[in-house]
Amino acid sequence: AGVFTYDPGFTSTAACDSTITYIDGDKGELLHRGYPIDQLASQSHFLEVCYLLLYGELPQAAQLEDFENRVTQHTMLHEQMHNFFRGFRRDAHPMAIMVGVVGAMSAFYHDSTDIADPWQREVASIRLVAKMPTIAAMAYKYHVGQPFVYPRNDLDYASNFLRMCFSVPAEEYVVNPVLSRAMDRIFTLHADHEQNASTSTVRLASSSGANPFACIAAGIACLWGPAHGGANQAALEMLREIGTVDRIPEYIARAKDKDDPFRLMGFGHRVYKNFDPRAKVMKESADEVLDLLGIEDNPTLQVAKELERLALEDPYFAEKKLYPNVDFYSGIILDAMGFPTAMFTPIFAVARTVGWISQWKEQISDPQLKIGRPRQLYCGATYRDYVDVENR
Ligand code: CMC
Repeated sequence: AGVFTYDPGFTSTAACDSTITYIDGDKGELLHRGYPIDQLASQSHFLEVCYLLLYGELPQAAQLEDFENRVTQHTMLHEQMHNFFRGFRRDAHPMAIMVGVVGAMSAFYHDSTDIADPWQREVASIRLVAKMPTIAAMAYKYHVGQPFVYPRNDLDYASNFLRMCFSVPAEEYVVNPVLSRAMDRIFTLHADHEQNASTSTVRLASSSGANPFACIAAGIACLWGPAHGGANQAALEMLREIGTVDRIPEYIARAKDKDDPFRLMGFGHRVYKNFDPRAKVMKESADEVLDLLGIEDNPTLQVAKELERLALEDPYFAEKKLYPNVDFYSGIILDAMGFPTAMFTPIFAVARTVGWISQWKEQISDPQLKIGRPRQLYCGATYRDYVDVENR
C-alpha cells in the first residue's frame, strides 16, 4: 500500500540534502563547498581539501596546521592489525584486503559506535583519513610479498604514502616531489563526488546507526566494481589490450555493438553529460608526469589520446554524451609511478574516504535522519499454498 516511485538505479531520486559537493552535469562543473575542482587541484592540496569537505570552509593557517598535525598523529595502525593482513591469501586483491581490514577496525574502536558523541565522530573521521594510506600501502606490500613499511610523520600525506608503498629495507625510496604532487592531485580529484554508488552505500549503512568503520568498509566494497572505482584498473588494462592506435577502430566498433557487452572503460558518466572536469586536469597531469619522468612516446598515452579523439568524433558517443571520465587518464599516471593496476582502485578508496566521512558526518548530524529503506515493484508469484515435498 502507499504510493511510491519506481526508479531503478536512482536516476531521478534525491535521497538527501547536502551542502558538500555540487555537480552541474550539463556544464561539466564540480564544486566542493562552492570552490571549483580545477582551482582546488591546482592551487590547494589534499589535506586542505579534506578540511574543506569535513568542516565546510577553507582553514586559517593555524587551523590547517592543527588539522595536519592531528592527521599525522593517527597514521599508525594498531600492531595487532597486522594479523588481519597476514590472514589473507598472498595473492589477494588489495581491495579485498581493504574491505576486510577497514571493517575489522570497528573492533579496535568500539567506542566509535557511539555516534551521538561529537568527539567520537571527530576522532573516527581523523583516524580514517589518517590510516587509510597506511592500510592501502600495507595491502600493497602484502600483495607483492614485501615487508610492511611504517608511516613517517615528517613527510606530507602523499609522500608518506608513496614511501610506504615503494621503500624496501634494502633501499630507502627517495620521494620525487613531482610524483608526490601528482599523487596529491589524484587524491584531490577523487576526494568527493556527492551521491555516487559508494557514498550512497555509506549513507545507507550509516542510516541504521552502524559503526563508522563498518560503514566505510561497505563503501569500499561498492567502489570496487568496474562500473565505479574499478574503472581505473579496467581502463588501463583496456588501453594496454588495444596496444596500438591501428586497433582502436575495432574497439570503438565493439563498444557500439549492442550484442557485445564491451564498453569503453573510463568513458561515460551518470551525471556528466558534457565533459568530466576532473578528466581535463588528469590529462594535463599525465602529460606533465610522463614529461618530467622523461618517458617519451608512452604507447598507452598515445592510444588513450587517439581513442579519445576518435570516440569524440563518433556520432554514437556524441549522441549519448559519452566523454572521458576521471578514470580514463589516472591509470597512466599511476602506472608511470610504478603502481600495478591492482592498486589503482585502493588509491581511489584512500582519496574518497574523506568524501564518505564528510557525507557520513553530515547525515548523522541531521535531526530528520531516517533509516534508508527503498521500496520495490514485486513481480513474483501471487499467493499459493505450501505443498509437501512428496506431492510437488
Ligand atoms: N561505452 C559504450 N557505451 C556506453 C558507455 C561506454 N563506456 N557508457 C554508456 N554507454 C551507453 C550505454 O550502452 C547506453 O546505451 P543505450 O542507451 O543504447 O542502451 C547509454 O550509453 C547510457 O548508458 P547507461 O549505462 O544507461 O548509463 P549509466 O548512467 O547507467 O552508466 C556508467 C554510467 C559510468 C556506469 C557507464 O557510462 C559505464 O559503464 N562506463 C564505463 C565504466 C566507467 O568508466 N565507470 C567510471 C565512472 S566515473 C568514476 C566513478 O564513478 O567511479
